[in-house]
Amino acid sequence: MSNKLHVAIVGATGAVGVEMLKTLENRNFPVSELSLLASKRSTGKKLTFKGEEIAVQELTMDSFKGVDVALFSAGGGTSKEYAKHAVDAGSVVVDNSSAFRSDDDVPLVVPEINAADVASHKGIIANPNCSTIVTVMALYPLHCAFGVKRIFASTYQAVSGSGAMGIVELERQVGEIASDKKASKIVYPHQIAFNVLPHVDDFLDSGYTKEEMKMENEARKIMSLPGFKASVTCVRVPVYRAHSIAVSAEFEKPVSISDAKNAIDSAPGIDLNDDIANNSYPLPLDVAGLDNCQAGRIRQDCAFDNGLSFWVVGDQLLKGAALNAVQIAEEVAKL
Ligand code: A2P
Repeated sequence: MSNKLHVAIVGATGAVGVEMLKTLENRNFPVSELSLLASKRSTGKKLTFKGEEIAVQELTMDSFKGVDVALFSAGGGTSKEYAKHAVDAGSVVVDNSSAFRSDDDVPLVVPEINAADVASHKGIIANPNCSTIVTVMALYPLHCAFGVKRIFASTYQAVSGSGAMGIVELERQVGEIASDKKASKIVYPHQIAFNVLPHVDDFLDSGYTKEEMKMENEARKIMSLPGFKASVTCVRVPVYRAHSIAVSAEFEKPVSISDAKNAIDSAPGIDLNDDIANNSYPLPLDVAGLDNCQAGRIRQDCAFDNGLSFWVVGDQLLKGAALNAVQIAEEVAKL
């Protein structure tokens, strides 16, 4: 690829899209030209990149002429409809939706873990699910040390994971309740303010949700570990930004807490925040806006022989979405 790339952001006005724009700027990604694409509603709206205002254009089949890398974050339906047009125009698509993640010819990449898989792309590279990315950022270094077999986990997922409308819903409900009104519901089937909902994504016949099964299916592909198992409960919580995951993991080899902490401490993209004597552990309020994930509460699991329990938090709009996508684009630029 040439030194500077023509980049398109599909869904540029969305919760992840605006973070993609900021991340390209913050990481000084070599951009020759930027196309900001969204629905017709946003045509003409202006977004700022490196001090310059750029008008948003309506996404059409013809939006990808000359585009080297197209970052998609406008939902699975848009990806299914438009990614092929981008690939036909010669763009490499980095797709944040779940549309292609399980396709055999689509690499599913967390650069700190499997950056080399980018080279096998056939035009589309998938960005994994946000909770899965945050979890494997802590789990993979532990896997390298002890060999992971299975996990049991619960997620605590921020409303911005549902897009900009999730933030609006929480804000509105808090205001309504504070003024003694009934909370109105648009995005979630139940009130999210002052509540937790054990329901993220659609239910499957098994009783798990699609989101819950992404952890097993996507982590298997990212870590090249077909036998990995994950039983997960995904929960939406009234937090604006950053997902937290409580994990109990069983390993092949005996574990040691000091080796586990060292493994996390020396891994890229994740920081150890584990000082319980001083009440120090990762919190979504602290991790929101940070590139690195944080892990803490690392302890010997009392129900597994070779087990560790831990708590990991990551900004799902950054490492769980925009940052990971831009890191993938950086790998594409190296090809
Ligand atoms: P728009 O702002 O014009 O609706 P979020 O995840 O925060 O809800 O954002 C979704 C993003 O995807 C927005 O940028 C939205 O654009 C964009 N989007 C949604 N549907 C389409 C579509 N059919 N074509 C193009 N962009 C779309």
